[in-house]
Amino acid sequence: MADQNRQWLLTSRPQGQPKTSDFEWRVDDVPSIEDGQYLVRVLYAAMDPAIRGWMDPSGNYMDPIPLGSPVRSVVLGRVVESKNPDYPEGMIVSGLGAWSDYVVGFPGMLGPVPAEWGHDFTTYLHPLGAVGATAYYGLFEVAEYKDGENLLVSGAAGGVGSLVGQMGKIKGSKVVGIAGGPEKCAWLTDELGFDAAIDYRATEDLSAAIAEHFPDGVDVYFENVGGPMLEAAIDNLGQKARIAICGMISQYNESDNPPPGPHNLWRLLVTRSRMEGLLVSDYMHRAMDGYAEMNEWIKSGQLKFSVDVREGLENAIDTFNLLFTGAHDGKLLLKIGDE
Ligand SMILES: NC(=O)c1ccc[n+]([C@@H]2O[C@H](COP(=O)([O-])OP(=O)(O)OC[C@H]3O[C@@H](n4cnc5c(N)ncnc54)[C@H](OP(=O)(O)O)[C@@H]3O)[C@@H](O)[C@H]2O)c1
Repeated sequence: MADQNRQWLLTSRPQGQPKTSDFEWRVDDVPSIEDGQYLVRVLYAAMDPAIRGWMDPSGNYMDPIPLGSPVRSVVLGRVVESKNPDYPEGMIVSGLGAWSDYVVGFPGMLGPVPAEWGHDFTTYLHPLGAVGATAYYGLFEVAEYKDGENLLVSGAAGGVGSLVGQMGKIKGSKVVGIAGGPEKCAWLTDELGFDAAIDYRATEDLSAAIAEHFPDGVDVYFENVGGPMLEAAIDNLGQKARIAICGMISQYNESDNPPPGPHNLWRLLVTRSRMEGLLVSDYMHRAMDGYAEMNEWIKSGQLKFSVDVREGLENAIDTFNLLFTGAHDGKLLLKIGDE
């Protein structure tokens, strides 16, 4: 066990895209644990867009990270010392941690993953982790997706989006994804089986492009991006359509000066549609049900996924910022410790 704990602390609220000067690199002693706690060596941190909201003074669906505190992050790690018999040394756990070598775990914060299913550890930060639960419960419960409906998903080549689209295909949907760049679009259609993909970077009229694929309208729009994409999707809603608002990544660096909202909300009225936000934390108490079904799809080859693992805690900030340029393939993870 290393005798030091390297960590990134948030020291100022970023304006726009986070900069290294918004953080402090600190090396401390490895934390000690009390009865009921366990010490976790962090192996991977999930680079989740939500972290950007936690850096803002208002936070998002969680309180802001207090200035001077380690950057909060979903992590996966190994218990290396324990004063809790239910979390023995060697157990692989996942949950809320930080951009650091070690975190102190306690029940409810870092819990066991179904390691007995035998997947690579990174799988438990993608389909069999909160990302997968977001896609699964967002599509089937919030969007009330029904077999065979027309499904449009933005951020389609990302962690959540790529799973949503494949789940739609498993259930017989016509699925169209919106993603940035020809390689990502080809991956969606050639590898993941999407019916079509729209490269938003190369498309002048997104609304017309969606209409071409869905002349009868979109039944479910799974929103990961926001901004003009939301407006283009609303233009194309069918009757009784549902929009699941999962994320708005295009606006996370613009909280000081958010762009105006969609101008066509009246289309919700005309189409008798609804738009509903989703928060994965509402579903985590029964996430194992979703993971069990997704595990079967993974084993049968129906659900594929890609992780982009970058190396080194020291590279956390540059790695995190890749989320906003899209210069990563699949779910972005940071490897912090050796398995
Ligand atoms: N509600 C919840 O409980 C919950 C839980 C987890 C995640 N989420 C949300 O789900 C979404 C996806 O998260 P993820 O972890 O799977 O990340 P991800 O999709 O793997 O990565 C983010 C992707 O967003 C796209 N993007 C970034 N900036 C953009 C912009 N300005 N315009 C258009 N596209 C942009 C990029 O893809 P391209 O290269 O294709 O542009 C990038 O690769 C995020 O909005 C996140 O906040 C919500």
